[in-house]
This record gives sequence, structure tokens and C-alpha cells, in this order.
Amino acid sequence: MALQFGFTAGDSILITGAASGIGRATALAAARQGLNVAAWDLQAEPLDTLVEEVRELGVLAHAEVADVSEQEAVLEAMAATVRALGPIRMLHNNAGPPSSLPLDFSEGLRISVTSMQMVTEAWIPHRPDAESAMVLTSSVAGNLIGTDNSWYSASKAALVGYVRHLAAYRSAEFRSNALGPGMTLTPRIATFADSEIGQQVLERIPLRRMASPEDIANAALFLLSPSAAYINGVFLPVDGGWGVTQ
Ligand SMILES: NC(=O)c1ccc[n+]([C@@H]2O[C@H](COP(=O)([O-])OP(=O)(O)OC[C@H]3O[C@@H](n4cnc5c(N)ncnc54)[C@H](O)[C@@H]3O)[C@@H](O)[C@H]2O)c1
Repeated sequence: MALQFGFTAGDSILITGAASGIGRATALAAARQGLNVAAWDLQAEPLDTLVEEVRELGVLAHAEVADVSEQEAVLEAMAATVRALGPIRMLHNNAGPPSSLPLDFSEGLRISVTSMQMVTEAWIPHRPDAESAMVLTSSVAGNLIGTDNSWYSASKAALVGYVRHLAAYRSAEFRSNALGPGMTLTPRIATFADSEIGQQVLERIPLRRMASPEDIANAALFLLSPSAAYINGVFLPVDGGWGVTQ
């Protein structure tokens, strides 16, 4: 049976990084709840496939090929999305570069952190009312666990600081929360998951498996939903207990 979190059918959700992994799973889970879906990504082809699948679930879908680290692209995509779907009650700020990328530190922060701040600011004027919510995909990395690339840990911790700021100062407008996925079986992690070190990590996860994208999507939808109406400013690890074994 489909999950019921108290959503109103016909409300809209915007998901960035929706063509793959966690974002794609959130888009499909949201559609199953009766929400209209706006899906943004860099990759056009998998977005088209997603849009077809979402429409088959009986809701509206709108896709934008947009780089969330480019302000102009964000503003244009937001305007086109609102023209297509009207006000957007929920935002899943999810797109981010893979932790394995050897990025320059400040560039890593720009495309991981500033991008989510730009999408949030672009979205704020287009919420229907204060019963709106934003969740962003942070990570256990930087918050519970250190990772090898410095920009990734720093970015994911900075995003939780940003959420705490929003929760403290902008909650008259919307609620804000952060998700902390542990190792999640999405395309970017498949090779690592099969490696020796990946297997060692797996042994330390008390639930003895990695997260599925759907595990993270369900947590995202709960935090965005009316069922989480009094949850504001939290960092929610969704890691099978990995963090408590460190
Ligand atoms: N997979 C994990 O183990 C894991 C763990 C913790 C956090 N996360 C976070 O989850 C989020 C989603 O990752 P995933 O594992 O689903 O990865 P994924 O690679 O399966 O999907 C990410 C999607 O985001 C898109 N994207 C990347 N940069 C973009 C940009 N600048 N503009 C628009 N779209 C962009 C990609 O094209 C891709 O479709 C990321 O923020 C990642 O840091 C993932």
C-alpha cells in the first residue's frame, strides 16, 4: 500500500538531481502520493524517461534541464516550472557532485552549497503559503563521519548549518530539514560498494545493507509532509545505524 503522510493531492514538489538515484526515487514516491512533480537535472534523456513514468502514475510532471550551480539557469528553470505547475509547496534540494571528484575546495563548496542556497532563494517567492517545506540532501559525511575529499565533508556540514539558519530565521515562511544518507546504492556508488573498502564499510553498518534510494526518498517525503509539521531544523541520519558504530 502506498505511504500516506497527509499530503494534499495536486500539491507540487520540486526535486533537483531528479534523473538518477535519490532524486529519481523521491520523484516517483512523490507521484505515488498524488503530488505533481517538477524534476530538474543536467541529464535530459533520463529526465524524459522519468517524466513519462511520473505521468503514468496519474499526476503532472515538468522537467527542466538546468545546472543548479548557475544562478541564471536556476532562475529561468524556476520561472518555467512555476508557469507549468503553479506554486511549489515542497522543495527537495538534492543535486550535488559525487564525493569522489577531486574538486578544488572553493569550487566544491560553490557547486554543493551555494547551489542549494540559490535554488532555495529562487523557490521562496513561489511557495503557496507558510505550510511549505524544504529538505536538502546532506550526508553522514562531514556530520558523523570524515571522508577523504575535504570539500565534500566541508560542504555537507555547511549545508546542515544552512538548514539550522533557515529553521531559526525563516520558519514563518517554511520548514527546513537535512537528510543524512549513509552509503546509498545509486549509480555513483556502485563501483565503491563492490570494492574491498566498500565491503569493509558494509560490515560496520548494523542493518548489514546499504540504503536503497527509496529508503532515502521515504525519509525526504516524511520530512516534507504535514506529518512532520513540528519537525524543523533537524539533521536526520538515514544510515542503518552506521554513524553509531564509528
Ligand atoms: N549515494 C550515496 O551514498 C550518498 C550518500 C550521502 C549523500 N548523498 C547525496 O545524495 C545526493 C544525490 O546523490 P545520488 O547518490 O542520488 O547520485 P546520482 O549520481 O545517482 O544522482 C545525482 C543526480 O544529480 C544530477 N546533478 C549533479 N550535479 C547537478 C547540477 N549541478 N545541476 C543539476 N543536476 C545535477 C546528476 O546529473 C544526477 O542525475 C547528492 O547530493 C549526494 O551528495 C549520496
